[in-house]
Amino acid sequence: MTAEPASRTTPSLKREQQLALYRRALKTLPGGTDSNFRAWGEATIYVDRGKGGHVWDVDGNEYVDLRMGYGPVILGHGDDRVDDYVNERMRRGVSFSLTSEDEVRAMELVKELNPWIGKARMTVSGTEATMHAMRVARAYTGRDKIVKFEGQYHGVHDYALISVAPDNMADLGDEDNPVGLAWGRGIPSEVAKTIVPARYNNIDALRRLFERLGSEIAAIIVEPVLGNAQGIMPKPGFHQAMRALTEEFGILLIFDEVKTGFRFARGGAAEFFGITPDIATYAKAMGNGYPAAAFAGREEVMSVLPDKVSHGGTYAGNRVAAAAAVKTLEILRDTDALETIAATGERVQAGIRGILDAKGLAYHITGHPSMFGVMFTEDVASEYRDWANTDHELYDAIAVGMHARGAMPEPDSREPWFMCEAHAQGDTVDRVLSIFSDSLDAALEARAHGEIGRPAEGAMSSQAAG
Ligand SMILES: Cc1ncc(COP(=O)(O)O)c(C=O)c1O
Repeated sequence: MTAEPASRTTPSLKREQQLALYRRALKTLPGGTDSNFRAWGEATIYVDRGKGGHVWDVDGNEYVDLRMGYGPVILGHGDDRVDDYVNERMRRGVSFSLTSEDEVRAMELVKELNPWIGKARMTVSGTEATMHAMRVARAYTGRDKIVKFEGQYHGVHDYALISVAPDNMADLGDEDNPVGLAWGRGIPSEVAKTIVPARYNNIDALRRLFERLGSEIAAIIVEPVLGNAQGIMPKPGFHQAMRALTEEFGILLIFDEVKTGFRFARGGAAEFFGITPDIATYAKAMGNGYPAAAFAGREEVMSVLPDKVSHGGTYAGNRVAAAAAVKTLEILRDTDALETIAATGERVQAGIRGILDAKGLAYHITGHPSMFGVMFTEDVASEYRDWANTDHELYDAIAVGMHARGAMPEPDSREPWFMCEAHAQGDTVDRVLSIFSDSLDAALEARAHGEIGRPAEGAMSSQAAG
């Protein structure tokens, strides 16, 4: 028997404790987890702890974390600056259903970093933020319909779960007449009908849609990049053209900055792309992993609150989230954390390019240096449907191989890699690159042995969202 080449000897992860926990959890939690997006069957990861850019599972396996909780952990896990501040503040009590100065300060910082904002309010999750943003838009315009782009994820409320992440692109309907596809059962068809799907980066189709339905459309909600398709970027001028079109038709523009806010720039994607939306939603990076979120808007639009629109929540503005937001936003404002993160992302991207170029593979790196994807494709992807034509089977094999070697990107090619400030420390970048290189070698060998197929269009198993 001949020994296998090194790259085909996939290191195996310790899984004993996790499998035991999985079987135990299955008896109580559907899928053994609290979110469909973390339910990976027997490969479900049960985490013990994180520090900086690293996580450890309950079996003691250590990984460089490239998921960073789907984006919120912008500074690093267990950041002492944030945690110490939160700890100090929370000793004064966390939940009063009264308003603390921490909340006022948090929203002042959101405004300071996004100077176009008139008013802002805290929520607990990005889901609540987008839900309230849509309600405000409907109340302000007196119209019911909301346009959203295929492949964009805006949370788990009924209005957001339309045309999100189907594996089979044919389900999205004809390219010129996309259908509103509810994700899962339980979403009333009357609710679904108020959400009109559109195709990202296709301004002509958007104009036709506005010409047909414009007087019924309250807003268009857009994640400025396709954060759920590896951060596919807007074509040059797309956001400017969309902004002009919304103004022409009296339609509000909602920037869902849950992933991009306080990450692409201090003023989020709005600053990065030079766009002033009417409403924006924030979460994730604003609290370094604590459940801080907000929706905000122009003064006039937000004037429907507090009298004409319902918004509340026992935990809205709770002390833990508000204190975390205050400290995280102060750090992002006062330090060069975002510049460090972008530089680290650029180093990782340059390394990946070097590795892939040497193999002669066709690929594109999509997104922002702090949040990017690797797409194996000849063509530049410009919308969600393009993801189906990428070699995501190869990507998935690399991602899973990286877990076994000590780095953890999402094992679904749709979810980008997230960079945090702590990734700049030590040899983390070199480690990620050598793990990527070894996993690529192993995946290419597996393909040569027929163990990884070529992607059949639309065939995918897991469903990333966020
Ligand atoms: C763009 C976007 N909007 C909204 C949400 C929902 O946020 P949450 O998971 O905090 O409800 C997410 C979550 O990933 C997101 O990526």
